[in-house]
Amino acid sequence: DLLLGAPKPLAGRSVVVTSGPTHEPIDPVRYIANRSSGKQGHAIAAALAKLGADVTLVSGPVTIPDPVGVKVVHVERAEEMRDAVLAALPADVAVMVAAVADWRVATAAGNKIKKKPGEAPPPLQLAENPDILKTVGHHAKRPKLVIGFAAETENVADNGRAKLERKGADFILANDVSPATGIMGGDRNKVKLISHAGNDDWPEMDKDAVAEKLAAMIAEQLAR
Ligand code: CTP
Ligand code: CA
Repeated sequence: DLLLGAPKPLAGRSVVVTSGPTHEPIDPVRYIANRSSGKQGHAIAAALAKLGADVTLVSGPVTIPDPVGVKVVHVERAEEMRDAVLAALPADVAVMVAAVADWRVATAAGNKIKKKPGEAPPPLQLAENPDILKTVGHHAKRPKLVIGFAAETENVADNGRAKLERKGADFILANDVSPATGIMGGDRNKVKLISHAGNDDWPEMDKDAVAEKLAAMIAEQLAR
C-alpha cells in the first residue's frame, strides 16, 4: 500500500448506484422530471470506485460528466433505470440516489401535442412508476447493503425512517431540501444517517465529502 497508493478496501466488491433525475415523456418534445443535478450520486459512484469497488452507475439525464473509473449506463425513464439496475444484480451494495419521477404519463403521445386555439389544455393521465429502491430492497438477489436517500421538506427524520422500513433498506440518508437550505443543485449537503441502530446527524459538508464518508462507512459495514 505504501508503494501502490491508497488502500482498496472495496476491491472485489460490486456496487450499483443510481443518480440524476428521470425524464418521463409527455410527447417527443416534452417530459416530466424531478430536480436533480446528479452531483451527489455521481460523487458517491466515484468515491466507491476510488476504494476499489466495481461500480455500475445508472444515470438519468444530467449535464455533469461521467465519473472516471466507473461503468456508466445512461437512461431516460424510470422503467429503463429499473431494468438497468436489475441487470446489474447480483451486487454487494446498491446505493439509490436518483430523484426518480414518481409518475409517468400513462400513454405518451407519438407526435407533438399541438395547442388548439379555444380548446382546454390536454389532460395528462398519470401512472405510478416502479419504486426501484423498494424493488431492490425486497429482491431475491438483494444486495448485502441497500442504501437510499430521502429528500424531504419537513419531518425529515420520521419520513426518512418510514422509507427505511417501507423500502427494505439498511440505511437512508435523509436530507432537508427546502428551498431555504440551498441544498438542491448546490455543492454542499447536510444529511441524517438513518438505520435500525438509530439516527446520526452528519455535519454540513461538500457533496464529495458526504460521498467519501458514505463510501468509508460501506467498506466498514462489509468488513464486519
Ligand atoms: N426511489 C426509487 N424509485 C422510485 C422512487 C424513489 O428508487 N420510483 C428511491 C430514491 O432513489 C431514494 C428513495 O427511493 O433513494 C426515496 O425517494 P423519495 O422520492 O424521497 O421517496 P418516495 O418513496 O418517492 O416518496 P415521496 O416522493 O412521496 O416522498
Ligand atoms: Ca419520490
